[in-house]
Amino acid sequence: MPVRSILKMGEPLLLQTATQVPIEAITSKEMQAIIQDLLDTMRDANGAGLAAPQIGISLQIVVFGFEKNARYPNEEAIPETILFNPVITPQSVECENGWEGCLSVPGLRGLVPRYQHIRYQGLDAHGHIIDRTVSGFHARVVQHECDHLIGKLYPMRIDDMTQFGFTEVLFPNI
Ligand code: NI
Repeated sequence: MPVRSILKMGEPLLLQTATQVPIEAITSKEMQAIIQDLLDTMRDANGAGLAAPQIGISLQIVVFGFEKNARYPNEEAIPETILFNPVITPQSVECENGWEGCLSVPGLRGLVPRYQHIRYQGLDAHGHIIDRTVSGFHARVVQHECDHLIGKLYPMRIDDMTQFGFTEVLFPNI
């Protein structure tokens, strides 16, 4: 399956709200091919996650997860997950700041406030329910990826724009 090219910030499609996938369409050949492309493209780019709009498909599909990630070497593993039509429910009012990057915003990192604890629900690649309560980097990655489905890129979430810069300057060891 092909590695797709990743749209970069500035593309209007990245600012759109993505369409829900009907449950009966999830197991279709077309949808399974999209999932494979998302996984292949994410792995090829060493991403922690990838959303369908980033490869030019405005549907509510995200993939994320890794054992070890070269872009985020200090973060704990996240199980590889394929998630359709996600819904996030914050489980805390507190937010915490953490550094994020995005394959659609190459070369940059920013400090982004996210909910520490969330519950997320959606459907997996078989159309079965996923319902998890998570925290920390797992919660951050899910919030970041799901933002792509509502046309939000992480720079739009940064509170303090002095905390936004080039990865090679901020984190010379990555
Ligand atoms: Ni992103």
